[in-house]
Amino acid sequence: MCGIVGYLGNQQAYDILIKGLYRLEYRGYDSAGIALVNNNGNLSVYKTKGKVADLEKAVAGKDISGTVGIAHTRWATHGEPNDANAHPHYSENHKLAIIHNGIIENYQALKTELINRGYHFQSDTDTEVAVQLVQYIMDSHSCPLEDAVPLALNSIVGAYAIVIVDKTHPDRLIAARKGSPLIIGIGKDEYLVGSDATPIVEYTKKVIYLGEEQIAFMTKGEEIRITDLRSVPQTAEIKKLEVNLSQIEKGGYPHFMLKEIFEQPETLRASLLGRLNPELGQVKLSGIIDNEKRFLKAKRIIICACGTSWHAGLIGKYIIEELTRIPVEVEYSSEFRYRNPVIRNDDIVIAISQSGETADTLAAIQLAKEAGAFLFGICNVVGSSIPRATDSGCYTHVGPEIGVASTKAFTAQVTVLFLLAICIAELKGTTSPERCAELIRELQNIPDKIARILVHDKQIEELAKVFTYARNFLYLGRGYNYPIALEGALKLKEISYIHAEGCPAAEMKHGTIALIDEEMPVVVIAPRRGHYDKIRNNIQEIKARKGKIISIVTEGDEDVRKISDYVFEIPDTEECFAPILSVIPLQLLAYHVAIAKGRDVDQPRNLAKSVTVE
Ligand code: M6R
Repeated sequence: MCGIVGYLGNQQAYDILIKGLYRLEYRGYDSAGIALVNNNGNLSVYKTKGKVADLEKAVAGKDISGTVGIAHTRWATHGEPNDANAHPHYSENHKLAIIHNGIIENYQALKTELINRGYHFQSDTDTEVAVQLVQYIMDSHSCPLEDAVPLALNSIVGAYAIVIVDKTHPDRLIAARKGSPLIIGIGKDEYLVGSDATPIVEYTKKVIYLGEEQIAFMTKGEEIRITDLRSVPQTAEIKKLEVNLSQIEKGGYPHFMLKEIFEQPETLRASLLGRLNPELGQVKLSGIIDNEKRFLKAKRIIICACGTSWHAGLIGKYIIEELTRIPVEVEYSSEFRYRNPVIRNDDIVIAISQSGETADTLAAIQLAKEAGAFLFGICNVVGSSIPRATDSGCYTHVGPEIGVASTKAFTAQVTVLFLLAICIAELKGTTSPERCAELIRELQNIPDKIARILVHDKQIEELAKVFTYARNFLYLGRGYNYPIALEGALKLKEISYIHAEGCPAAEMKHGTIALIDEEMPVVVIAPRRGHYDKIRNNIQEIKARKGKIISIVTEGDEDVRKISDYVFEIPDTEECFAPILSVIPLQLLAYHVAIAKGRDVDQPRNLAKSVTVE
């Protein structure tokens, strides 16, 4: 969840590290820090509670020279966000400094042992234990840092991505990972390390995705050396980074979230690219076709995901069951992994994750793997942990999503689930080729239809100003649009901090209806196709209780308009594709309400983009 960046080369490290921290800030933003081996040989650590901009202020006037350094932006796990708990952390002798992402589960026992041996701790973090342990091993075994790091890591239980800088060897950096991602960029006579590609992409496209339980030893002017935790040499596989600089910049938009909402016509086209054969009316997903037998014998599909990705999974259930007749269960990864679930070896487990790093989803699929299930990943970040841990999969290909509130990744996940459902249906013959062709034709129209909704952004901005007073919002939908009610509510609460609840429209009368009064805005997703009459009745029930009704309707629908206070139109489409359209005004509504309330939309409080701790 934290952001990690390291630099070793011939350039001044400070500017590269600070720029890297700004790019990583979306991953965690409660405190930030930097460590540099200065030109005079000092190892300086500067850190502060707050954002990267606060760090820059704190560093003003200090020695920021040096061509090697590490920097970190934090999302607190152990210890409140304050100056002392910010990373980097020194070792006892101040010769080493460390940055860390993850959780060291046995840190308390290690800390007690180190305190008993005379070590002093400056923070409440688990991270400081790691660097103290490394120094302790160096001192007690009289061994160099290169030998102490694997020994220390073998004593650590938990997850980590770490980078260590050494005052006595300013030409070196050491990085290691277990459970948390690390990427190493290889430039001309320089190395960059990042918890993702964003701090690296400006400098090089040559990268190594450090493998699970691997340690990278980087020395200026030398080839990188990689070992496992037992010091056995590993092959360094150099890959080409597919991310562009423009994809990680705002491109004229005030926020990444708005940029990403507006990118959706393009990102959806990218998700479909090369995967459709409209002439033959077929979907080509090699991740499925290459594993045809597994999909044909599947008795059940289990989808594991968290947050917005879980909402995508719910829509996946509807379409997969409709087209393939395979029963689908949708699980919160965090519940699934801890409840001794029944998993069979003819199950297919689909993990959905934008980041590909969500700790609970990763653990859920590891559990499913042990039970012999076939694992399929739907992820966005290329080379991330979930695609590497699954048997097969399909990327969403929407480019980096930086806004903490997921938008373009969601619509792409839903699109990929449609493709997956059609592809399996074609293999199994459970839906007629004519129907599959019809769906494929309409799927190709969806990007243009999203563009038609985005034109009405200003109307939504105006409406948002009306509702800044609200303390609660209710979102209702039925069928394919029920998950959109959940998603609309999540979007609003995570960035505006207004409490919001999504509910199946028919369930409302079993309790939630008690909340409705003249103060309560109720967003009703009511497109013409699918349960239209029923949801119109639900709107009447809200109206009778004086709730403020905001309806999402099909273009030209005058009936619902008459009984609503506010209306957003979406183009007509197949019932199953309506969620991709109906979510767009809800993303914009959440964005504009949050802006009107003065919220930090891209970095909402207490959240982080990539949830790499459970
Ligand atoms: O990277 P993932 O898709 O696995 O992340 C799952 C959730 O943490 C994520 O969708 C979260 O709910 C978003 N902030 C929602 O906008």
